[in-house]
Formats: sequence, C-alpha cells, structure tokens
Amino acid sequence: MSLGMFLTFEGIDGSGKSTQARVLADHLRGLGHDVVLTREPGGSPGAEEIRKLVLEGDPDRWSAETEILLFTAARRDHLERTIQPALDAGKIVICDRFADSTRMYQGLSRGDLRDTVDKLHALMIGKEPDLTILIDMDPATGLTRAKSRQTAEERFEDFGEALQVRMRNGFLALAAEFPDRFRVIDGNRDIDSVTRDVIATVEAARA
Ligand code: ADP
Ligand code: TYD
Repeated sequence: MSLGMFLTFEGIDGSGKSTQARVLADHLRGLGHDVVLTREPGGSPGAEEIRKLVLEGDPDRWSAETEILLFTAARRDHLERTIQPALDAGKIVICDRFADSTRMYQGLSRGDLRDTVDKLHALMIGKEPDLTILIDMDPATGLTRAKSRQTAEERFEDFGEALQVRMRNGFLALAAEFPDRFRVIDGNRDIDSVTRDVIATVEAARA
C-alpha cells in the first residue's frame, strides 16, 4: 500500500524534468506503488485545452497578468479532477511543474508579479507539494536541449538565454525560500546519475 504523496519537478526548460519524472514513475511502479504521472500546464482535459491557449500562437498573445489567471485556472481544474482525487485514494502523484513555475515564469519574467501569483494561489489552489525536486541546469545547455525538440508549442524558451539565466537563479532562490520541501539536484550529468539522486531523494523523503 502506498501512502499518498505529492511530488513535483521544477527547473528551466530542457533541464530533464519530464525525463526524470517518467523514470521515477516507472521505478515507483516497479516497487508496487500506485503512481499518477501528470504535468502542467495540463493534466486534465480542461487544463489541456488551456495549455493550448497559453503555449501555442504568438508568445506575446497574453499579458503576464492574464497568463497568471490562465495557468491558475488550468491548475485549479487539474487539482480538482486529477491531483486531489489521486491523493485522496492514497496514490503517489508526480507532477512535471506546478505552482513554483508560475511564481517564476509569470512572477518574475516581466516585472515583479510574485505577490499577485501568491495571492491568487492562496485563494484558488492553497496546496503545496510534499516534495519538490529542482533540477538545476546550466542555462545554455538547457536551452540547446529544449530547442532540439520539435513541437508546435511556443515555449518560454523562445525568450532566449537571458530569461533562462533569470529563471535558473529564481528557482535556486525559491529553493532557499522553501527549504523544507525543496531538494536541488545537479542536472548537468548523464541521465542515470541524475536518476540515482532523484530516487535517493524521494526515498529519504518517504522514510
Ligand atoms: P524538461 O522536461 O525539463 O524540459 P526533458 O526531460 O524533456 O526536459 O529533456 C530535454 C531533452 O534533453 C530531451 O531530449 C531529453 O532526452 C534530453 N535529456 C534529458 N536529461 C538529459 C541528461 N541528463 N543528459 C543529456 N540529455 C538529457
Ligand atoms: P513544459 O511543457 O514543462 O516545458 P519544458 O518541458 O520545456 O520545461 O512547460 C511549458 C512552458 O510553460 C515552459 O516554458 C514553462 C511554462 N510555464 C509557465 O510559464 N507557467 C506555469 O505556471 C507553468 C506550469 C509553465
């Protein structure tokens, strides 16, 4: 029997979050745990529709304020329909990005909107992960990796390396702000080495 646990991966584009989330889910399933692997924006039918609105089309389509509302609307649906029911059923939920991404990308990218993000989060989400793994990554390497993917989504990586540097520093500051739930793992290594640290970190948190 698994005890419900809410795990998130955070980090800049191309840091290896999706790869590590997948490998961790496989590992935990292999141990007999019931695991829900999900992602943001998205993770429920309604939230996946909002994902298309925010990630496709002109990158300047929405103001930062509107993006906060859209990402939070998607998160609310995802929480109601996918995350909370799974946690209530005692499952392990692994989520590729969550509210910390809004704190960074919308809160920091174009002016200081962090306070707005936090207020809306308190009002509409009010949930934090039990454990957040920050995959720390050299911004240039992350950008190269992210750009090698072919996709219709206009990602925030399109704003270039300067933004990646700001986001990397912002995530490290966020980890220092919430030391109880954040663990930082060096993503500048081969996939298996990063995975070993991810698994050890999760096992330590569950012990
Ligand atoms: P993210 O979800 O953080 O954007 P991904 O897991 O999608 O990152 O990885 C981006 C790309 O880099 C993918 O092509 C993936 O196969 C590759 N990749 C992931 N981790 C590593 C690693 N440790 N070393 C080399 N390449 C990696
Ligand atoms: P994702 O698919 O995780 O991209 P990647 O695999 O490249 O990391 O996320 C897509 C983009 O959405 C990413 O550039 C970060 C952005 N994003 C926000 O700006 N705010 C948010 O709240 C979330 C969840 C993601």
